[in-house]
Parts: sequence; C-alpha cells; structure tokens
Amino acid sequence: MTEHDVRPLTESEFRASNDLFRKALNAPTVTDEGWRLLAERYEPGRVWGDHIGGQLAGTTMSFASSLALPGGAELPAAAVTAVGVRADLTRRGVLTELMRAQLDEVRRRGEAAVMLHASETAIYGRFGYGVATRSRTVALETARAAPRDRAPGGGRVRLVGVDEAAEILPGLYRGLGVVRAGMIARPPSWWLTHLRRRDSNGDHAVIAVHSDPNGIDDGFAVWVPSGNDYRFGDGRTTLRLLDLHAAGPAATAALWWFLLGVDLADEVVAIERPIDEPLEWWLTDSRQSRVRDVYDGLWVRPVDVPAMLRERDYGTAEPVVLEVRDGLLPDNAGCYLVGPDGAEPTERDPQLSVDVAELASLLFGEARPSTLAEANLIEAHDPKALDPADRLFATLERAWCGTHF
Ligand SMILES: CC(C)(COP(=O)(O)OP(=O)(O)OC[C@H]1O[C@@H](n2cnc3c(N)ncnc32)[C@H](O)[C@@H]1OP(=O)(O)O)[C@@H](O)C(=O)NCCC(=O)NCCS
Repeated sequence: MTEHDVRPLTESEFRASNDLFRKALNAPTVTDEGWRLLAERYEPGRVWGDHIGGQLAGTTMSFASSLALPGGAELPAAAVTAVGVRADLTRRGVLTELMRAQLDEVRRRGEAAVMLHASETAIYGRFGYGVATRSRTVALETARAAPRDRAPGGGRVRLVGVDEAAEILPGLYRGLGVVRAGMIARPPSWWLTHLRRRDSNGDHAVIAVHSDPNGIDDGFAVWVPSGNDYRFGDGRTTLRLLDLHAAGPAATAALWWFLLGVDLADEVVAIERPIDEPLEWWLTDSRQSRVRDVYDGLWVRPVDVPAMLRERDYGTAEPVVLEVRDGLLPDNAGCYLVGPDGAEPTERDPQLSVDVAELASLLFGEARPSTLAEANLIEAHDPKALDPADRLFATLERAWCGTHF
C-alpha cells in the first residue's frame, strides 16, 4: 500500500510545486522572471503536496475568489489550479488524497465552492465537480466578416501598455458587475500574470480599452498576434483573442470590429467565448462566425450546498423536493425543498435525487433536470416533479466564466 504524506507546502517548496505541475502538463518549467510573477499566486496554507517516500509526488493549490450564481449573488469560492502528479507516481491515489485535503481546507475556510478548468473531463467528477459553464472557440476571417448596418458598436478603442492596463483593467472588470452567472472575481495576482505574460518572441499581449461616447471606459480586450513571415509558409497572421469583457453589446461589438479591422491580420480566433454571444446576428454573413469547438468551461464543486441552493434565483413553478447525495462531504447530503422563493432543508421524501457533481450543472442552468434524468444522472422517484424542476432551475442566459486560471 502506498504511504501518503499530505500537508500544506511551505514557501520554500512553492517553486518545486510549480515545476512538478508544469512537468505533469508536459510544459517547460518557468524562468526566474516567470516565477517572480507566478509566486504571487502561491498563498501559504493554500498549496498542498503529497509525498511518497519523502519525495513530492503531487500538488494542488487554490486562490481566493468568488463565484456568481444565477440572479447575481456572489459567494466566496476557491479557484483550484496547478494540479499535477509526477508521471512515475500516477494512479496511486495521490490526486485523491490531495483533493480530500483541499476540500476539507476550503470547507474550514467557509468558502461555498471550489472551481477549476479541467485538462481532461474524466478526472474531477469523482470528487464532486460538475460542468457549470460551457464556452466556444470562434474563428473569423477578417476579409469576410463585416458588421451589418444595424449591428451595435460605436465609441472609441485605444491601445494601452501593460503598466496602464494594470492600472485600469482590474477596476474596469470589477466595475462591469456580474454580467453572467459563472463569472468569478480576479485577484491582483491573477492580473499580474495575465497582463505581464509574454509570447514566444518575448512580447507582451496587445491590450485595448473601449470607451463609450461619453468617454467612460466600459470594456477591454487582450490578444496575442501569431505572425507568419510572409516569405515563408502561408504568411497568414492570426490574432488570438484571450480575454474580452465589456459592459454591453455596443462595447463588446466595438472591440470585435476593432480586432477585425487590424491591418495585416487575416483571422481572429477567440477562445472561451460565451456560447450565446450574438456574433452571428451582428455579421452580414452569419456563417463567417465559424464555431471551431464547444467545450466544458468552469467545473464547480459545491462545498456548502445549502448556501448555493439558497442564494440562487429560481423560476416560477410548484416547489419540488430534491435530494442531494455527497459521499465526500456528508454534511451536504439531504433533502431540500426548492421553490420560486428559494431552497431550504426539509424532512420530506425526495421526488428527485442527484449527486453533488450534477447539482453543479443544475445550479448554473447548464443542464435541465429532465435532461439529466434522461441520462440517468437524476433519479426521478416522482417523474411529475421533472417539469416544475425544469422551470425552477431554468436560466434566461447561459452561464459563462470567461476567466482562465
Ligand atoms: C490527472 C492526474 C492529476 C491524476 O492523478 P493521480 O494521482 O493519477 O490520480 P488518482 O490515482 O488519485 O486517481 C483517482 C482515480 O481517478 C482516475 N483517473 C485519474 N486521472 C485520470 C485520467 N487522466 N483519466 C481517467 N481517469 C483518471 C484513476 O484511474 C483513479 O480511478 P480509480 O479510483 O477507479 O482507480 C495526473 O494524472 C496528472 O498529473 N496528469 C497530468 C496533469 C494534469 O492533467 N493535471 C490536471 C490539470 S487540471
């Protein structure tokens, strides 16, 4: 049997933790300059290591954030990142030990949820994480994608340097408010690495800020150009859009039109965009918004189920009794009466039963209860409860995270 020694790492062990994580991702370890930025993300007490035979075998960490629920309530949540196990020590339960320790830590801190972006979909469901949001990758040819006459836009777009962006963007993002469920708070350490990252040429990302006709900043975009020397290859240049947030359709669209108008760029490829972003409706030729991929975005693991159920908004329908099953955090397990006015624990018999991972998908409106029942992921003791449950958990707008970590 493998002997595990799981404990929070000390500051002197943080870089080894990052090196192990990057090697587990088959990525190069960071330079000294890169580490100076990344180290800001490592907070004592939030970085975990599992040791086998005295050697670091695997690691995980989190940073403090918050998570928006349907209706706009924001709950404290831990953003889990830098998860990795040494390639020669996988499948011995290292991740399992780390996940248990981290869940206990987060519960002690009083955070309502843990959340992450998964490298593979098979990993985290067993620990109670479920898909809360989805995103899409869209690609547009700059020569063909043009705004319709009535498309939104306007205002002014200006490029800013990294230092100015570091001054403006954090407040701008916060000031936009909760635009959608699934959005998270970005701590200063996140901004530091996001804005000061360099591409393979050593250049910083390009950053643009949009201001409305009154001169008020109301949106921003961050992208990395991938240029091709026209004398070699196909000579095409792609703008890789990493981040675009704005107060509304006018600012969002204006940033898109700016990107599509950049000289010598052939294509804009945008990752992690909302599935229902109305690009198709803004273009003269809707097919020019080519969806390359749709994938799971934020995975959420409810840690304080009563709080998450209570703080979410619901639609109008007859209340239903929902049983939540949670093998890892048994305090969450039990029945909840969910109705238009909220949700509270109840002693009544369940009409529907769901595991905590799929509860995450219900909470964010990512899946309808009846869809999960069709997949045998909800047990419908009383099938008549599915229709009201669909109405209660329905959301008008797709959840979207829009922040990679
Ligand atoms: C994913 C990773 C962290 C798993 O670590 P691990 O220590 O091997 O996981 P465990 O041994 O605790 O596995 C627990 C269970 O999950 C399964 N599992 C773990 N990783 C899996 C994967 N990538 N695909 C399918 N199943 C996986 C195991 O088979 C095991 O199942 P079992 O309980 O039925 O036997 C590790 O493989 C890794 O570092 N991968 C590369 C880096 C990476 O992807 N990190 C995650 C970034 S989000």
